[in-house]
Amino acid sequence: MLPLVHRPRRLRRTATSRALVAETVLRAEDFIHPCFVRSGREVEKPIASMPGVSQQSVDRLLVDLETLVPLGLKSVLLFGIPDAKDGIGSGGWDPEGPVPRAATLLKESFPDLVVMADVCLCEYTDHGHCGPLVTDEDSGETTVDNDAAVEGYVREALAYAAAGVDVVAPSGMMDGTVGAVRSALDASGYAGTSIMAYSAKFASGFYGPFREAGECAPKSGDRRSYQMDPANRREALREVRLDLEQGADIVMVKPALAYLDIISDVRAASDVPVAAYNVSGEYSMLKAAVEKGWLGEDAVWESLLAIKRAGADLIISYFTRDVLQRLARA
Ligand code: PBG
Repeated sequence: MLPLVHRPRRLRRTATSRALVAETVLRAEDFIHPCFVRSGREVEKPIASMPGVSQQSVDRLLVDLETLVPLGLKSVLLFGIPDAKDGIGSGGWDPEGPVPRAATLLKESFPDLVVMADVCLCEYTDHGHCGPLVTDEDSGETTVDNDAAVEGYVREALAYAAAGVDVVAPSGMMDGTVGAVRSALDASGYAGTSIMAYSAKFASGFYGPFREAGECAPKSGDRRSYQMDPANRREALREVRLDLEQGADIVMVKPALAYLDIISDVRAASDVPVAAYNVSGEYSMLKAAVEKGWLGEDAVWESLLAIKRAGADLIISYFTRDVLQRLARA
């Protein structure tokens, strides 16, 4: 026998002792379920690149939540797919739009559910960018007009708060968004509405399937003049600091799996809850591999555990349904 003092394997011998010393535990409360809502009734449009995910009308979403809430679902994040789009994304602040309508009905049926809503204009503009476009006179380049976009987000956030949304989540990466949204909410009697800021949102290739789900791919160009460069780590902390100074209640890192270092940095640098967005591409990649039999379901669990272990308090994930079902079986 080797003369070993330390045998770390001792604590790994049985399932019970492994459970006793597990440092990270996934709970139903950690998860936020993203939902794509459309107008109409009985609408269920599956997203081809995201097996198990659909665009739904509110009646169908309510039926779905009847099964998820009893499994412990605490929160949803709403995205709206409007019937019509225009250059400035005015559908984003339509009080009769899919998100305000869904929020009101969800709060009626599930008063305890924390209803969050993504605040962005890319689903509502006909060009697919996250705000109105402007052409720079010197360079001739077309880009998103920062301050006009923020004005739109403010109107959108107010419409959502009025409909009963608990948490507004600005995702457009325009400078000054959180401060502008906070003061407008406060001035309009919505001091109780929280802000979850997409603080460190990277210009990522992992958003591909979402653009089908949200019908929001830019018609030309890309989002690199407003979303962050995947090469940058320090800059994420700068974005987080600015959002905290402006009143963010929760800060977010997005995507999650290729950005675990950022999640860890942000956790260490902030004293508010940190959310991580396990984005569409991360979901589709794993789903596809599991469907093909190339990976087992455990790879999904392991990835979500990694996001939490890196420092995320909250995980926005299309796997939420699978997680809740697995936790209920355990
Ligand atoms: C809207 C928005 C996007 C995502 C969340 N909000 C798309 C984008 O920025 O292009 C991506 C979510 C995902 O991929 O799951 N700005």
